[in-house]
Amino acid sequence: SVVNAEPYRIKMVEPLHMTTRAEREEAIRAAGHNTFLLKSKDCYIDLLTDSGTSAMSDAQWSAMMLGDEAYAGARSFDNLWNAVEEFYGFPYTCPTHQGRGAEHLISQILITPGQHVPGNMYFTTTRAHQELAGATFHDVIIDEAHDPSAIHPFKGNVDLDKLRALIDEVGADQIAYINVAVTVNMAGGQPVSMANIRAVREICDEHGIIMWSDATRLAENAYFIQQREEGYADTPCAQIAKEMLSHFDGLTMSGKKDCLVNIGGFLAMRDEDILIKARELVVLYEGMPTYGGLAGRDLEAMAVGLREALDDDYLAHRIGQVRYLGERLIEAGIPVVQPIGGHAVFLDARAFLPHVPQDELPAQSLAAEIYVESGVRAMERGIVSAGRTKTGEHNHPKLELVRLTIPRRVYTNAHMDVVADAVIAVWQRRASIRGLRFVYESPTLRFFTSRFEPL
Ligand code: F0G
Repeated sequence: SVVNAEPYRIKMVEPLHMTTRAEREEAIRAAGHNTFLLKSKDCYIDLLTDSGTSAMSDAQWSAMMLGDEAYAGARSFDNLWNAVEEFYGFPYTCPTHQGRGAEHLISQILITPGQHVPGNMYFTTTRAHQELAGATFHDVIIDEAHDPSAIHPFKGNVDLDKLRALIDEVGADQIAYINVAVTVNMAGGQPVSMANIRAVREICDEHGIIMWSDATRLAENAYFIQQREEGYADTPCAQIAKEMLSHFDGLTMSGKKDCLVNIGGFLAMRDEDILIKARELVVLYEGMPTYGGLAGRDLEAMAVGLREALDDDYLAHRIGQVRYLGERLIEAGIPVVQPIGGHAVFLDARAFLPHVPQDELPAQSLAAEIYVESGVRAMERGIVSAGRTKTGEHNHPKLELVRLTIPRRVYTNAHMDVVADAVIAVWQRRASIRGLRFVYESPTLRFFTSRFEPL
């Protein structure tokens, strides 16, 4: 195969700390078998998340020096506003400290308690804010998304029949908005096709429903459209992204992913009334409407990063590196979500540990084992992440996954080989791996802070 070399060179390095197996056993015990509670210094290769972990470019670091730190009316705000308008096509932007800040605002603005919000699979913070605002979330993703081995080029697509059925059931006026994520994190970083976005738009137009996007990984989605959807092979990703977003009324953005920054987010929209409401709320929860909880330098870095993330060469390498890791695991016979998604390789913990029932938290246990094996930090995306229902039962998601999330522009393919070797070593001793039980369960977003012990 063709060598997938980096389209950048290294200008600054950050030394990593190597640990012994005994040190890692102690570290995971101290962390309550929750990889979120490990210390960064104890993680040799940190694949916990692709969020806020990108390496910034020289252009971004220089832009930070130009940050305008005025409390109001900063030039840095205008730079972000103009970049969003130019690259995403939205006339109005309201910055927030990160994606969930934008999710909080839009949920409060658009949801009347008792209403419904369909989405192409849930995301943890997104659904939490929708429920906090009094809505019920409905998953309208295609069935294939819930099957780790189902091959589909656009496994993130909205199931149009499920959407229509929900509209018939509750009535269009009881749907606050539809939230379409591009790509779909919890499904494995799976993309949505342009055709599907257009079709959802038509249904929304027919029923007067607002169409919002969780555009957190929109650049990666654009790359998949370029590679997989007829008619887009010769279209630059930046142009594809703009066409995708042209169908939406607005978006929430976690700049920590496809704006290549360590912190930041925003809401963008076409409707000035929504902007006015967002500005009323943002001053309460985040900061002045021209900084939204960020420093001027953060706005500058985001304005530069959002264009860099749409570069075709960058995206080909980025997605290629994730695929490289995935293919090494597939060659070893390890069950992973297929096709390989945009930001991570997801191990299918049900198939990896078939002897561990879901109530014994197989993905949580597998993530802890991978850490002990190698110092590679992964994340549970299964029953622990799915939380409890309103009546207090565990949600039992079909997908019980461990996510190996690749930070952008940070690790080399040699690091990917270390990760693959570690997962293969755990695979070889999988029969001896046991489940876990909760010793402390936090009431909200429990995956972040809960503690576990081996059964
Ligand atoms: N939407 C999606 C699809 C996300 O993946 C995230 C964050 C958010 C919204 C919230 O953004 O973190 O800036 O507040 N995902 C991170 C992850 C936490 O590791 O998957 P945020």
